[in-house]
Amino acid sequence: MGPRPMTERIVSLYSAEDIAARVRELGAEITRDYAGRNLVIVCVLKGSFVFAADLARAIDLPLRVDFLGVRSYGEGTESSGVVQITQDLSRPIEHEDVLLVEDIVDTGLTIAHLMDLLRTRSPASVKVCALLHKPARARVHVHVDYLGFTIEDHFVIGYGLDFAERYRNLPYIGVVERT
Ligand code: IMP
Repeated sequence: MGPRPMTERIVSLYSAEDIAARVRELGAEITRDYAGRNLVIVCVLKGSFVFAADLARAIDLPLRVDFLGVRSYGEGTESSGVVQITQDLSRPIEHEDVLLVEDIVDTGLTIAHLMDLLRTRSPASVKVCALLHKPARARVHVHVDYLGFTIEDHFVIGYGLDFAERYRNLPYIGVVERT
């Protein structure tokens, strides 16, 4: 008999219910902080599409939603710091309050780059809302204004997050274990 093929097992880290409860809290906090302002939710594609959709519905304010497509080149699961914009915002953000919505802040390089980019367009403010933060892997300091959960150094999938483009549709966040 040859070697046993590698299989992947997914262990749940945050259930759909855990995530929904935290998203409701973040939405309430953002609703309080941005009352009376011109809020633009910027969803960073692709990973944030699920989180941004839920977060937008947890915010009880008039707002608009726009999308930024980014690709960070790197080997496998490692971010290289080279951030390529694959899709730009559809409108200017001058004098508006921008909330960048990210799935996960890992090395911080993507968010740092996007903050610099957006600030060149004279918004009234730019803040960050991230569902997950992996501080163990930080390479640049980024301040996350609204944070869902801080996690250990695991590669996580689900709720928009992928591994080689798979698993984005899982309703929960899990860790892939190789067995
Ligand atoms: P950063 O530039 O290293 O902060 O990485 C940001 C991007 O890398 C995220 O928006 C994700 O798309 C991806 N990423 C980082 N860690 C993970 C992970 O554990 N699972 C899935 N994608 C990840």
